[in-house]
Amino acid sequence: MNLSILEGKRGIIFGALDEKSIAWQVALAAQKAGAIFTLSNAPVAIRMGSIKQLATQCNTIVIPADATNTEDIKKVFTESIEYLGGKIDFILHAIGMSPNVRKHRPYTELDYEYFHKTLDISALSLHKILQIAWNLDALSSQASIVALTFIAAQRVFPGYGDMSDAKATLESIVRNFGYYYGKKNGTRINSVSQSPTPTTAGSGIDAFLRFYEYAQESSPLGNADAQSCADFCIVLFSDYTRMVTMQNLFHDGGFSQIGMTILPSE
Ligand SMILES: NC(=O)c1ccc[n+]([C@@H]2O[C@H](COP(=O)([O-])OP(=O)(O)OC[C@H]3O[C@@H](n4cnc5c(N)ncnc54)[C@H](O)[C@@H]3O)[C@@H](O)[C@H]2O)c1
Repeated sequence: MNLSILEGKRGIIFGALDEKSIAWQVALAAQKAGAIFTLSNAPVAIRMGSIKQLATQCNTIVIPADATNTEDIKKVFTESIEYLGGKIDFILHAIGMSPNVRKHRPYTELDYEYFHKTLDISALSLHKILQIAWNLDALSSQASIVALTFIAAQRVFPGYGDMSDAKATLESIVRNFGYYYGKKNGTRINSVSQSPTPTTAGSGIDAFLRFYEYAQESSPLGNADAQSCADFCIVLFSDYTRMVTMQNLFHDGGFSQIGMTILPSE
């Protein structure tokens, strides 16, 4: 896409780790669409990943923040508003991590400390971002927020573990905060339910390859890649979708509507 549909808009992009990250592609697409934005990630991810390279490429700054820490998030907003010169028009929440999945714990044997962490990092972080922005009055009128999610919020994908519960909570926060923000100043909040995508978080799931291949074979358009997801996010940040809010939007090549698929020979 080569449209400058985000010209004049200021954003914050959470969750770019390396060039496989969906957030990385969103940053590149947002720059192409004329936006200015800051980047944020957890301090450890900044050290281990290559986000600084992305910041140089996008001529911006990286603001370290553990997305579970409210003081860190506050800093992201105050520094972003100062650096970008005004209130925030769009936010990408591309944050997810489950210690249970990382440690290969099956759903029937979850560690509850880990489970709390999964929910805090992958779902409550969205509520914290939205609540802090609310209290700071950090969002411009008709801002647009997008959070990334997965269809395991609605259907069972064995191996996705407690991330399924985190995504269901995330989508609920999108709906509920979407109501309050819509009433407050017209801010829109939507989630994008993306195809399995070979990123660090995606590939960290033991069953990832099976998810990927199953969805690839079932979807009439095949799996959506990170770049096309980024294009969709850009449209959602733009004024062209100004009446779309509180939705969970499937960006999955049609996978979510499939009952069964016919093989090419049939
Ligand atoms: N890859 C997929 O198959 C897929 C499919 C649907 C949805 N998603 C979602 O897309 C989003 C982005 O993931 P991705 O696939 O691009 O992988 P990724 O690994 O590139 O991104 C995940 C990000 O979360 C960040 N993060 C983890 N803990 C954090 C913390 N405490 N504070 C701040 N940031 C933290 C990581 O540093 C990383 O940048 C996630 O919400 C993920 O669940 C991914």
